[in-house]
Amino acid sequence: MRAVDIITQKCNRNELTKKEIDFFIDGFTRGDIPDYQAAAWAMAIMLLGMSMRETTDLTLAMANSGEILDLSSVVPIAVDKHSTGGVGDKTTLVVEPTVAACGLPVAKMSGRGLGFSGGTLDKMESIPGFRTDLSIAEFIQQLGEVGLVLTGQNDKLAPADGKLYALRDVTGTVQSIPLIASSIISKKIAAGAQAFVPDVKVGLGAFMKNLEDARTLAETMVKIAHLSQRKAVALLSDMNQPLGLAVGNALEVKEAVETLKGGGPADFREHCLVIAAYMLVMGEKTGDIQEARRMAESALMDGRAVDRFRALVAAQGGDTRCVDDRGILPRADLIETLTSPHAGFLKEIHAQKVGETAVLLGAGREKKGDAIDPAVGIELQHKVGDFVSKGDSLFRIHINNENLLSSASQKLIEALQWSDQPVEPLPQFYGVVQEEDTSLISSSTCI
Ligand code: URA
Repeated sequence: MRAVDIITQKCNRNELTKKEIDFFIDGFTRGDIPDYQAAAWAMAIMLLGMSMRETTDLTLAMANSGEILDLSSVVPIAVDKHSTGGVGDKTTLVVEPTVAACGLPVAKMSGRGLGFSGGTLDKMESIPGFRTDLSIAEFIQQLGEVGLVLTGQNDKLAPADGKLYALRDVTGTVQSIPLIASSIISKKIAAGAQAFVPDVKVGLGAFMKNLEDARTLAETMVKIAHLSQRKAVALLSDMNQPLGLAVGNALEVKEAVETLKGGGPADFREHCLVIAAYMLVMGEKTGDIQEARRMAESALMDGRAVDRFRALVAAQGGDTRCVDDRGILPRADLIETLTSPHAGFLKEIHAQKVGETAVLLGAGREKKGDAIDPAVGIELQHKVGDFVSKGDSLFRIHINNENLLSSASQKLIEALQWSDQPVEPLPQFYGVVQEEDTSLISSSTCI
């Protein structure tokens, strides 16, 4: 078999066999197939798509390119969630302790933020001392002992995806549904998950800008999970405006802790309850989604969820005082309030522009490896649909470099659209994709 023939097969719109996909991924992982051939292959997939069967074979080939964790000795059903990324998305920080508090142990490997979207690891690292570099042995041991673990992606798991993702990033081949779906699910399978809840974000601050693409991605992930003998239920959730009110690492930890204590912004709390409920159903804690939601809600209200968060922070060397004392988290030197130049109804708070402003302040990174400032960020004072009077507070900007204040303020003002007429609040979810919704999609369907 030769890599060039496999690329040509794809370019001629022929379906690749499992053998060809395994050969390509194996050769690429070992370095026998060079980056230029892998880039040509990825571009052919991006332009011509893949069938569900090919996408499943690619997923399994990437999962099998490294170790596959077996968590069965510590968790009866390993359930995980995955957000496709957005602005203000601190859901993992709340959902994982909540689900663990309901008796379902959860093990998660998360990523860092890149561009305008934030990453769970960066948020957790704003807690002094918190370690995100656990070894696989530590990961499994903590899951058994604490029932909750949250660490960085281990490069022994799905190494093919790590290599391919880095190549896609610089060859304009990120925006391909089969490549995104196989990338996400291969990492979940490698990290030992038997069931997962993909949270597919859609809107101005998401990878998927429209509902049709988001639904196709969600259906693809659910279908390939099924074809790989795993289970998945995907949610389609709004990312037109930031989730919750805080954007920036320490600010988001603070908001997550408030939510874990039974408070927090209504939209964020609702988002967490829905995701937690689907995880509890997939982990067979109950068969009824409403009952699952009640279980999650009582864990938030009676202190069990925040106790689990405390246990997580302690187990990974973090300063647990951050749960009760905001002063333990990094704070910016300056907090400036941006007031409204208009009176009117907020029609849009462009999530990507708010995310880009947070990056400008130093909360995110333009390119891999850039340092970030955990203290800086933005607190929204309003959501879409709110009426705002002239002079009301719109944003609180947490800043360490005063020179950035005027450009950050200008970007935030540009992120807003106004209306004289009342505006409906944005929906939080646009739908749920379950396995039965994909039953008419055959394995030869091309995506
Ligand atoms: N997240 C991933 O893990 N992979 C992709 O391809 C896109 C988003």
